[in-house]
Amino acid sequence: HHDERDAAAEQLTNWYNQMKDKIGYSTNNAGIQLINKDASLTAGKYGPIVLRDFELIQQLQSFDRERIPERVVHAKGAGAFGYFECTSQTISKLTVSKVFEKVGKRTDIAVRFSQVAGSLGSADTVRDPRGFSIKFYTEEGNWDLVGNNTPIFFMRDPIHFPMFIHSQKKNPVTNLRDWDMFWDFLVKRPEAVHQFMILFSDRGLPDGHRHQHGYGSHTFSLIGENRKLTWVKFIYKTDQGIRNLDPKEADILAGQDPDYALRDLYDAIEQGKTTGKYPSWTFYIQTMTPEQAKTQTFNPFDITKVWPHDKFPLQPVGKFVLNRNPSNYFADIEQLAFSPSNFTPGFGPSPDRLLQGRLFSYPDTHLYRLGANYQQLPVNRPTTTVSNFQRDGESVLYNQNGAPNYHPNSFGGPDVNPLAKSWTNPPEDVNAQVDYYDLVDDDNYTQPKQFWNKVLDASAKNRLVENIAGALSKARTDIQKATVEVFKNVDETLGQRLGQKLSTLQVHL
Ligand code: NDP
Ligand code: HEM
Repeated sequence: HHDERDAAAEQLTNWYNQMKDKIGYSTNNAGIQLINKDASLTAGKYGPIVLRDFELIQQLQSFDRERIPERVVHAKGAGAFGYFECTSQTISKLTVSKVFEKVGKRTDIAVRFSQVAGSLGSADTVRDPRGFSIKFYTEEGNWDLVGNNTPIFFMRDPIHFPMFIHSQKKNPVTNLRDWDMFWDFLVKRPEAVHQFMILFSDRGLPDGHRHQHGYGSHTFSLIGENRKLTWVKFIYKTDQGIRNLDPKEADILAGQDPDYALRDLYDAIEQGKTTGKYPSWTFYIQTMTPEQAKTQTFNPFDITKVWPHDKFPLQPVGKFVLNRNPSNYFADIEQLAFSPSNFTPGFGPSPDRLLQGRLFSYPDTHLYRLGANYQQLPVNRPTTTVSNFQRDGESVLYNQNGAPNYHPNSFGGPDVNPLAKSWTNPPEDVNAQVDYYDLVDDDNYTQPKQFWNKVLDASAKNRLVENIAGALSKARTDIQKATVEVFKNVDETLGQRLGQKLSTLQVHL
């Protein structure tokens, strides 16, 4: 199929066809027309360049500054725009959010998909969790759901996140992926095993971005009338159906078309313009009352665990559609900044420790990656008017003109909406001893065992064992052995089969 020209290949042609009557003359960044684009200004035909060639200098200076830091994780990705639609009143009673105020209510969204461990130029078809973030441009400000394609995560305390990421990215000496580091983390922090099992199952290699589910993963708050609190999980299921890649096919694609998933999303949305069929997902919630939360056999705020479906059924409350490609990748997608701390009225956090860490980490990394005024960039800018007492800084685009820059003041504020307290979390009881509580042994195996026994059929089990063994066989033998022990704790048979598989790969345990 290599000769076929897909929508992505036609991008420049399409631009030209649309713009050909409107293309003016070339200018510099001040909008002044350029004199020459094909030669530097030199002293004589073969002589040196003169300093007064500021057109050349500006071009080189701009080029020298093209790159910004890539995301420290989730660097490689793809994104698009579209809308979210509320489809059920079930949730209208549980949150005061305008996103869910009535059936048929639409909100503009931006979505970004990503791989976690690879850097900006890495291949799309690698075994890795996929990021799946949604920014809702609501009339009450931006609400961000910064989720993944898995319902759970590798750890339950943010102190482990940088450590874990170090173990999955590159060895600092060799700058290569290091399988000893990769598996050693699991051995030392076995709460990661549930996520490792999902990662090495079929869904660890989704076929592009359109054929996977997304999960907000954490437990969040919904705040209804009178500050009534309901705990919630958000789940978005693909309408395209789940489709995964065969590991061998994925390896080949990584060489032939490293941007496979990015291209697939771009082309699907361009094709939608003629077929009317755009990528879409159905949006569900699971809910739990604060009273229920106190009586569960598992910690409902532990992100290494799911809420079982039989007790907490999925309720469909919305759908979203991606119908617009970025008009420019860097401006619209590289500069997109999601933060789990962006809660609009009617949503809030939970005591989930990992979430608490994330509330700090994302805005902090954006300040480093995009600068002090990143929320003023068009793609991050809310549709509401920003009105506060923060001013200035690098690259300010909107500095609130003549409004007072201090509070309190005698010039009309702006002040806090007296109703604001009604849409935030109710007061929380905290009567506790401050200390370091390591949660390493907080029921690490019950749900992974269910995943193995209940969710995977015989052939899916075979593939899981094969996938783990393939990657594990590259680690040092004592780390392999210790890893097998972790999987034995999940299920004796799983551990034994893994041990057997490793021995057939001629690894001596
Ligand atoms: P259910 O049988 O009701 O649900 C199983 C879920 O697993 C379904 O949502 C299914 O997705 C999903 N699933 C199937 N294959 C995979 C895979 N390879 N990787 C990830 N998810 C997969 O079970 P329970 O709710 O009782 O949970 C049992 C176990 O299922 C959990 O311990 C957990 O490991 C796993 N799971 C549970 C989820 C939950 O929120 N309860 C969510 C995802 C996984 P689909 O709907 O597409 O068939
Ligand atoms: C990206 C930190 C856990 C999903 C990032 C980034 C940081 C980060 C610093 C880069 C952001 C940027 O440069 O814009 C952390 C920390 C975590 C954590 C400290 C735990 C304490 C999680 C979890 C999920 C997740 C649990 C999913 C449920 C994502 C996604 C992105 C991302 C989807 C990419 C966002 C985008 O598309 O721009 N994370 N993360 N992270 N993280 Fe996390």
